[in-house]
Amino acid sequence: MSENFSALLYLAASVCFILSLQGLSSAKTSTRGLYFGMVGMGIAIGTTLLSPEVTAFALTFVALIIGGTIGTVIARKIQMTALPQLVAAFHSLVGLAAVSVAAAALIEPHSFHIGQIGSIAVGSLIEMGLGVAIGAITFTGSVVAFAKLQGLVSGNPLIFKGQHLLNALLGIVLVVLIIMFSLSESHTLFWSLTIISFVLGVLLILPIGGADMPVVISMLNSYSGWAAAGIGFTLANNLLIVVGALVGASGAILSYIMCKGMNRSIFNIILGGFGGGSDAAAANGSGQQRPYKSGSAEDAAFIMKNAKSVIIVPGYGMAVAQAQHALREMSDILEQEGVEVRYAIHPVAGRMPGHMNVLLAEANVPYENVLELDDINRDFKTTDVAVVIGANDVTNPAAKTDPQSPIFGMPILDVEDAKTVLFIKRSMSPGYAGVDNDVFYNDNTMMLFGDAKKMCEEIIKAIEE
Ligand code: TAP
Repeated sequence: MSENFSALLYLAASVCFILSLQGLSSAKTSTRGLYFGMVGMGIAIGTTLLSPEVTAFALTFVALIIGGTIGTVIARKIQMTALPQLVAAFHSLVGLAAVSVAAAALIEPHSFHIGQIGSIAVGSLIEMGLGVAIGAITFTGSVVAFAKLQGLVSGNPLIFKGQHLLNALLGIVLVVLIIMFSLSESHTLFWSLTIISFVLGVLLILPIGGADMPVVISMLNSYSGWAAAGIGFTLANNLLIVVGALVGASGAILSYIMCKGMNRSIFNIILGGFGGGSDAAAANGSGQQRPYKSGSAEDAAFIMKNAKSVIIVPGYGMAVAQAQHALREMSDILEQEGVEVRYAIHPVAGRMPGHMNVLLAEANVPYENVLELDDINRDFKTTDVAVVIGANDVTNPAAKTDPQSPIFGMPILDVEDAKTVLFIKRSMSPGYAGVDNDVFYNDNTMMLFGDAKKMCEEIIKAIEE
């Protein structure tokens, strides 16, 4: 295939990826976005395979079959709740790929058309140095993020004295090593900077607590994009540069949006130490029992049936219970009874960006009934019932009132302003950030203890009866 024709096809693939990102920006157009992504990737792989440099067809085919099979099996089996750690695991592979390509280019530069051993151009060495550093940090950082989210290591921030100083020192050493490597093509320096980057990846992610993991994953997503762009420069592959930059930039923008959602700065997150688990809960609970009201499905059915307006606030527990279909059915029945039902979505509800939107879309909840925090928050004041289903942190007023709270500064859904608040959850346990929620104990709150799906089914039964 001529170089011009393959450049044209790569351009077509790039356009598909851009359209894919645009489609994925809203639940309504996300399926179209996925199709664009698939077509773009098909064009990209096909064009690469048809380029004259690719001769090892058998090996490539075997790799495609193995990778494709693993990907298909995982995609079919994965639980929605485990998606964040899956994303982290996949990012680690992009990082490892960047390290492998940089190492291969150093060992066999002629295969990459970047000169001979001992006389690689400085520009290529800089690309290699940066690519391997970002790739190695992405690899180990993503592995640690995966281990934390999977519960293999504690989700609490792991902090030791002098940690930030050590990280800063390692960062400086890394920059010096990249410069020295670029000027010398020394293999020893290359492997030293690779090892330091692996260590830095671990040290950077360890102090970050569970509640900040979504931002970290999105940041690692961004790093993996820049690592891919680095590989693109080494391989002189324009498509990889464009796609890497797209992933890098969109990951960075997503991190920014999430930081805004939690009212935190990116530096505050990178410096870590936020979002413990049980420790924070214990610190908050002070062992004292406070009185609260609990009710049954029948009580909830009665309250909701007699309401004019209901706002449903879904959270992580809805995903765990897979309650979205039962919830949709409950809303349908209430609407038939003349109740206005809307859904309020917090930007970090659940465990990944857009988690609630995806689940509600899966249950065919009409998009126009699903509103973002800024668009619905002031309506709680004029709403009869707020139904909080499997959510907690995103409704916790400590985020506004308690400067000592780990979630202080995060915008919250003001459910307590509704005339009545119903909390569907299994116990009085706190949420992800481990902070007790004062709204549980308010006079206008009723706790409905049970699994979210089962409780919705019981409420449906009670309304129908
Ligand atoms: P959380 O504050 O984690 O609260 C979820 C609640 O669901 C828990 O209190 C739990 O209480 C309840 N629950 C669990 N399983 C349930 C089931 N089967 N049926 C009914 N309830 C169940 O969730 P949230 O309000 O959605 O807040 C999200 C939190 O996660 C934030 O702190 C956010 O920063 C963090 N986070 C977000 C993301 C993204 S990007 N969305 C990623 C990682 C972390 P019981 O045990 O009493 O049932």
